[in-house]
Amino acid sequence: MYSTIIRPLTLAAFLTCVAGAATTEKRQAVDTTDTTAAAAKSNPVCTPYIAVRDAIMGDIFEGGCNDNTRAAVRLAFHDAGTFSLSLEAAGKDNGGADGSMLVDPNEVLRPENNGLQNIVALLKPLPERFNVTAGDVLHLAGTLAVLACPGGPLINTFVGRPPVKNINPDGLLPDTHDKVSNLVNRFADMGLTVRETMALIGAHTCAKQRFVSLADAGDSMDTTVDIWDIRFYGETQRNDTDADVFRLPSDLAFSQDPLTKNDFSRFVGSLSVQENWASEYADAHEKMSLLGQNVDDLTDCTEIMPAPIHLKDIVTDSSGGAVDPPVDPAKLQAELQSTREQWLP
Ligand code: HEM
Ligand SMILES: *[C@@H]1O[C@H](CO)[C@@H](O)[C@H](O)[C@H]1NC(C)=O
Ligand SMILES: *[C@@H]1O[C@H](CO)[C@@H](O)[C@H](O)[C@H]1NC(C)=O
Repeated sequence: MYSTIIRPLTLAAFLTCVAGAATTEKRQAVDTTDTTAAAAKSNPVCTPYIAVRDAIMGDIFEGGCNDNTRAAVRLAFHDAGTFSLSLEAAGKDNGGADGSMLVDPNEVLRPENNGLQNIVALLKPLPERFNVTAGDVLHLAGTLAVLACPGGPLINTFVGRPPVKNINPDGLLPDTHDKVSNLVNRFADMGLTVRETMALIGAHTCAKQRFVSLADAGDSMDTTVDIWDIRFYGETQRNDTDADVFRLPSDLAFSQDPLTKNDFSRFVGSLSVQENWASEYADAHEKMSLLGQNVDDLTDCTEIMPAPIHLKDIVTDSSGGAVDPPVDPAKLQAELQSTREQWLP
């Protein structure tokens, strides 16, 4: 089932290499515009995804970090986070990182998916346009979205997910008003530990809320919404009050509840802590992007991912002492500009 997805691509790419002169030229043209460091060692299975990457980074993310990147990260969670070990054990229809959010017209209309309609509409045409599966498009968009924002880590990215089998089961996504023990149990049923869950929740570093408090619609969840930093953890733990920042009840509870507070507070700190978080976040997001999939049947295409912008390169002082080191606006602009130029004409 899975291997039928990969083999034809491999074969097609192989035939292109040995025989198809015209097509080879076309593919090489794509390859030479590829500015990623790892572009040189190319796995033919990954080649078709270079064009998908370019459409997402250019057309949808506009070469940077915007409301579509936030939405794409949340979409990756809402697609994958419906995976359930207990449903799997019972042999029932399961969720997981399958792309059903792009395929089933009703799933995105569920209240918990409110706010994801726009990113779903933008990504929906890509599977047919590039002849790849919805799951691959959706989860490539998720890992690219993390990278598109300064501080966001490189996440190992796999392709070869089979076509969607069923709509995600309803009622499995966490509710921000639920108690910590229930939330922790739900993540455990996805296959994620408390430590991994606390690393993943740091995605709220780039998040806005619109539907929890209508009066505060558009508020972010930390003071630096366009940067993937650990400010989210410190500010939430201290329950800082900032205008235009909204703290989700579940995030405040994670920072205080005995079940989660130790793992939450591990990510409060200075630049060295940022590096720890970036690496643990990357591992947890990779795991999330593979929920319900058999990784042995997929292909690692991390080689097509752009280079990340490291926070240490844009802070005013990288000696590492200060908690939540401030970003240097000039360095940030320079990095953003050079990233944008890679994707926009
Ligand atoms: C207990 C677990 C979680 C709960 C209760 C939760 C809840 C929420 C809520 C209520 C919002 C705001 C939606 C709105 O009103 O517009 C939100 C936004 C967001 N969440 Fe979570 N979330 C959880 C875990 C995660 C995880 C694991 C990720 C990703 C790895 C994630 C990524 C995001 C992102 C990126 C946004 C911002 C979306 C945007 O600005 O468009 N969340 N989350
Ligand atoms: C699309 O991909 C499938 C499976 O990877 C392959 O069998 C098929 O030939 C492709 N179609 C086109 C039009 O390239
Ligand atoms: C966080 O701060 C707000 C505003 O000062 C306060 O109303 C709320 O009770 C605090 N929440 C927690 C969990 O400490």
